This record gives sequence, structure tokens and C-alpha cells, in this order.
Amino acid sequence: MPPERGTERPKRILTGDRPTGRLHLGHWVGSLAARVKLQYEYETIVIVADLHMLTTKRTRRDVEQLLPNVRGLVLDYLASGIDPERSCIYLQSAVAETHELHTYLANFAKVGRLLRLPSIKQMAHDASMGDESLPYGLLGYPVLQAADILLARANLTPVGKDNLAHVEIARELARQFNSTYGPVFPEPEPLLTDIPALVGTDNRGKMSKSAGNAIFLSDDEPTVAAKVRGMFTDPKRIHPDVPGTVEGNPVFVYHRIFNENRSEVDELEERYRAGKVGDKEVKEKLARALNVFLGPFRERLAIYGNKPGLIDEILWSGTLKVRRIAAETMREVRERMGIERVWKALRDR
Ligand code: TRP
Repeated sequence: MPPERGTERPKRILTGDRPTGRLHLGHWVGSLAARVKLQYEYETIVIVADLHMLTTKRTRRDVEQLLPNVRGLVLDYLASGIDPERSCIYLQSAVAETHELHTYLANFAKVGRLLRLPSIKQMAHDASMGDESLPYGLLGYPVLQAADILLARANLTPVGKDNLAHVEIARELARQFNSTYGPVFPEPEPLLTDIPALVGTDNRGKMSKSAGNAIFLSDDEPTVAAKVRGMFTDPKRIHPDVPGTVEGNPVFVYHRIFNENRSEVDELEERYRAGKVGDKEVKEKLARALNVFLGPFRERLAIYGNKPGLIDEILWSGTLKVRRIAAETMREVRERMGIERVWKALRDR
């Protein structure tokens, strides 16, 4: 007899971001575009990782910003086309089992291994934390991330290069837990989604909010136009008739990615190389193309942003769903570990 069909759970994906600010075109290229596609193939859970944010941003001011930042992030997800009917978006801190699983996994995690991770060093550096002031919580960042992934028993984790080692740690922890107590967790597979990071408008490294070189998904038309006018371009071109360089020129990098009108881009590149077009025209056309690209985002921003309470409702119902998944996983975890038995003995004495 052929194996029974339809009884296996569809593959589940877990991915997400820390709620530290609004999303920009770099996020779209690096992760959002892939997520929007993947939600049609897999059961998708998107985490708003506020506990991870707290590993580097935990001041009063930081936590005061939490609610607006969480709402902004969820709104940007929805604007990007993450469909709340398909994807479940949840708030990490509101699923208390995250802490519990993190504590159990922490006993398998090796400090030496965590200390060697470039991502931890980088985050500590960015938050001006030296070797002596590395918080215990930040060291455990990947263990907490493993708790997110394993709690949902996700099969796949779409991540960028910088998070690849964290998924590897989640796999190691899953293996160690399973071989010690019994098979509870699937080993999550990483799904590398990042093509080279999108360059910022100033051509100095990748697009980021803190570098001030970002075009946000929520920027309006005049803002986009102004940012494009101020973009770095080929500095040799003091006149429109100087032959220009297209390669590595951020204006053309964006044209290639975001301008749907391929023949317009081909033609602009050709004229630019020949010194037959001014930067002004190239930039005006880019601003127009970006505003076309962002059109559907703005429509969804208006739909979701104008209904008071809608974002909160979407996030909370996603959170309740993950709470149910988490409760189920943790019951199994405690049973395998023998903790459930201890509780039962005390309860049913
Ligand atoms: N570490 C991710 C970041 O770079 C956020 C995150 C937390 C995450 N938990 C996760 C991503 C689980 C994928 C899966 O912001």
C-alpha cells in the first residue's frame, strides 16, 4: 500500500526580525521578498524578536520605543505582502515557553563556541560592549534563537549569512537534546536568502537605518525622489558628456533591481557609458521606478495602517496560535526530560 498521504504536517518555516526600526529596501532584497514567496509553499511563522532586541537595547528609552517599533515592523511586513491569512506573525516575549526552552537548551550550549562567533563579537562591538562587559544574555543570543526555532519545531529557517551560524547552533542543540532525552525536535535546515547586501544611497556599505543611507518601504513619493536626487553616483561625471561607469554605481544597481522597465535600464546604461545622458535624467527615472515599485506597498500601508487596532489584532492572534504550538512542544519536552513526571507526582500526591 502506498503511504497514507496528507497526514504529514506541511513543512514549517520560522523567520523574523528584531523590532528596532522601520524596514527599508535592503530588507526587501535581503529577506522580505523571499518570505513573501515562501509563504505560498510552507506554513510560515514570522517572529517579532523583542527578546533578542533586549540583548543589546534594554534601556528605559529602548523599552519605551518597543510598542511603536513592534507596530511599525508588523505594518511593514503587511505592506510587503506578508499575508496574515497565510503567515502567522507573533511577539516573542508573549510566548513564555521561549524562556523555558532557552533554559533547557542553555545546558547544552558551549560558551567557547558562542564566544568564537563573529556575529556575537560584531553585535557587542556595535553596542560598544567590550570583552569584559559582554552581557550573558547577548552571549546566549543564538541559544535564544534556537529556542524560537525549536519551540515551533520549524523545519526551515530562512536567514542571511550573518545568521547562518545561529541555525547551525540550533541544529546542534536539537541533536544533543534529541540524543539525550528522545526525538522531540526536527533539525532545522537553513535557507540562505541573501544575495549580496543592497548598497546604501551613499555607496558606503550596505543600506542601514543607522548609516542614514536607507530608503524605507514607508517613505512617501517626495521623500523617495529627494533621497534619489541625493544619491552617490559616478564622481567622475562633472558633465553629462563624460562617459560614466555603471558597474557598482548605486543608481544603476537600484535601476537593475527595482525598475521593471528593462529596456529603459538597458538604454540608460548605454547612454551613460557613452556620456549621452545626465545624472539628473537617470535619477528622475529611478525615482519614478522606485515609486512604481513601492505603489503596492503604499496601498497596503493605507489599508492596514488606517484601521485602528487591526495590526494589534493580527499580531495578538498570531501570538495566541504560537502559544498553543509552544504549549504542545513543551509538554513533550518535559515528558521526555522526566520533569512532567515530577510535577505529576507532586500534583497527584
Ligand atoms: N536573529 C534574527 C535577527 O537577525 C532575529 C531572530 C530571532 C530570528 N529569532 C529568530 C530569525 C528565529 C530566524 C529564526 O534579527
